Amino acid sequence: MDHITNRAIIPHIDLKGGGLTVAGVSKTYEAKGDATEVLRDISFKVGEKEIVGVVGRSGCGKSTLLKLIAGLDRDYVGHIGLDDNEVTGPGIERGVVFQEPRLFPWLTVEQNVAISIHETKIPEHEKRELVTSNLALVGLTGFEKKFPHQISGGMAQRAALARALTSQPRILLLDEPFAALDALTKMQLQDEVIRIWERRRMSIVLITHDIDEAIHLCDRIIVMSPRPGEIKSVTEVDIPRPRPRVGSGSTAIRARLMSDLGLF
Ligand SMILES: Nc1ncnc2c1ncn2[C@@H]1O[C@H](COP(=O)(O)OP(=O)(O)OP(=O)(O)O)[C@@H](O)[C@H]1O
Ligand SMILES: [Mg+2]
Repeated sequence: MDHITNRAIIPHIDLKGGGLTVAGVSKTYEAKGDATEVLRDISFKVGEKEIVGVVGRSGCGKSTLLKLIAGLDRDYVGHIGLDDNEVTGPGIERGVVFQEPRLFPWLTVEQNVAISIHETKIPEHEKRELVTSNLALVGLTGFEKKFPHQISGGMAQRAALARALTSQPRILLLDEPFAALDALTKMQLQDEVIRIWERRRMSIVLITHDIDEAIHLCDRIIVMSPRPGEIKSVTEVDIPRPRPRVGSGSTAIRARLMSDLGLF
């Protein structure tokens, strides 16, 4: 495709085959005659089974980018496709987890999870099996009948993850999913995401503020520059899994990311 202009930054981009393609995406919010350019010419690819992180300062357009990939906003320039299909709206092949769990308070945990496949033609007993198995996968067996106010923040975020997983998505879109959690719960959930990914092998886009989280989870990390958000750099993380939380392999990557973020 001709409209990719930053090939120099991402020489490996290949628009054919499976996975997510974001090509030449620009986004401007317009309100009351006021235009805010938020994303400029963003291009990258997330191959099948790859985990790609997006880091950048607050306001650089990370959530906006994720909303576009999720199909929640169609008002942009460029192309977004999954497995050669153009993204034209929300779809069950893309599971989304936001920073806050966004559970319906009047529904139980299992009802909240079942919502993601509510409108599919899957037979009822299979729906129940999917809900049960995905709740088990995130460690919520025994909490199916609880309401959101009866579970902890970490458990609520597990439920949100189960909801995203239940539709058996080709790609998980995670928008700072652990940012509101305490450090220990956060690390535990990061390791669970890796465990789930090793079993399911879906692609993942992880938006995060947390450099260490990105290094721990991702195959590749995109740094975005602010206002308007552009791709500043792409860093491969070639540390074999399981990855240690601390180690010399991550020090150089951390330094590079900090520098690209303008932090020293
Ligand atoms: N619906 C909207 N209308 C107008 N401007 C918006 C809208 N949503 C976001 N913006 C603006 O777009 C810019 C990017 O917002 P976005 O939420 O994508 O940033 P972010 O990188 O996710 O930030 P954070 O790290 O704080 O979550 C901000 O300047 C924000 O004010
Ligand atoms: Mg955001």
